[in-house]
Amino acid sequence: MKIWMNGKFVAREDANVSVLDHGLLYGDGIFEGMRIYGGKVFRLPDHLHRFETSAKATGIELPGGLDAMKKVVLDTAREFGQTEGYLRLIVTRGVGELGVDPTTCSNPTLICLVDGIRLFAPDKLKKGLDMVTSSYRRPAADAVDPRVKSLNYLNNVLAKREAKLRGADEALILNQAGLVAEASVANVFIVRNGELLTPPVTDGSLSGITRDSMIEIAKALKIETRECHLGRFDLLGADEVFITGSGAKVVPIATLDGQQTGGLERPVMTRLVEAFEQYTLEHGTAF
Ligand SMILES: Cc1ncc(COP(=O)(O)O)c(C=O)c1O
Repeated sequence: MKIWMNGKFVAREDANVSVLDHGLLYGDGIFEGMRIYGGKVFRLPDHLHRFETSAKATGIELPGGLDAMKKVVLDTAREFGQTEGYLRLIVTRGVGELGVDPTTCSNPTLICLVDGIRLFAPDKLKKGLDMVTSSYRRPAADAVDPRVKSLNYLNNVLAKREAKLRGADEALILNQAGLVAEASVANVFIVRNGELLTPPVTDGSLSGITRDSMIEIAKALKIETRECHLGRFDLLGADEVFITGSGAKVVPIATLDGQQTGGLERPVMTRLVEAFEQYTLEHGTAF
């Protein structure tokens, strides 16, 4: 693991934030999770754009601007020196007074760390995950818009915790209308009659960069692709179900609430995963 913090690389045991940092006190901050594939940071300009949009949505200043963020990411990846990894860029509101008032924080805390990551056991990746419908709904866009990648992930954490307590691997999170939003930290896709379907991000998901890549690849492979509202019913009746994310990559779902979802073959997902491997090598920024 390599950690960069407020201007320099620090050892893991020295990588500490203040107890008065509003990132810790209130979850007041934003982040990005990116992959390094084949010695390149995958779709870095898109991650930086999403990061900048989250910064605007929260009124958090990016220290040194977007160019400085890019430099920090590439410097940290270079220091890590490995061709595969998971990189996280974090900006918190910084140290302030007790109380939510963000105007008491004058210096944002900037952190970049990179390491390996494994979200699911290898046998699960092959067999598929067991998913359960969460009792935690995605907040509406007039609360904090779920497209903001903020440090406030309690909704996601509690959905995941509930899934694990119920003996499952992953949570299916619905929005206020009972439609599929996403998984705890991943977007949801189904395949039905050869067609690839995913909910629009306005149904309550992050605008996933892996999701976007899947759609682009599917179009290139001439797989019919459409955004549409999905319910639990659609997942139960699907030929294939899978989730996507920078941490998770592309992971099949085997069951939903104890019922098998889709077959065991997953031909469309398999084609997409194969093409994605090549795509990752062609859409990175070298460091
Ligand atoms: C809530 C949430 N949904 C979806 C995703 C997937 O987005 P991406 O593919 O950009 O990593 C993430 C990030 O990992 C996430 O945190």
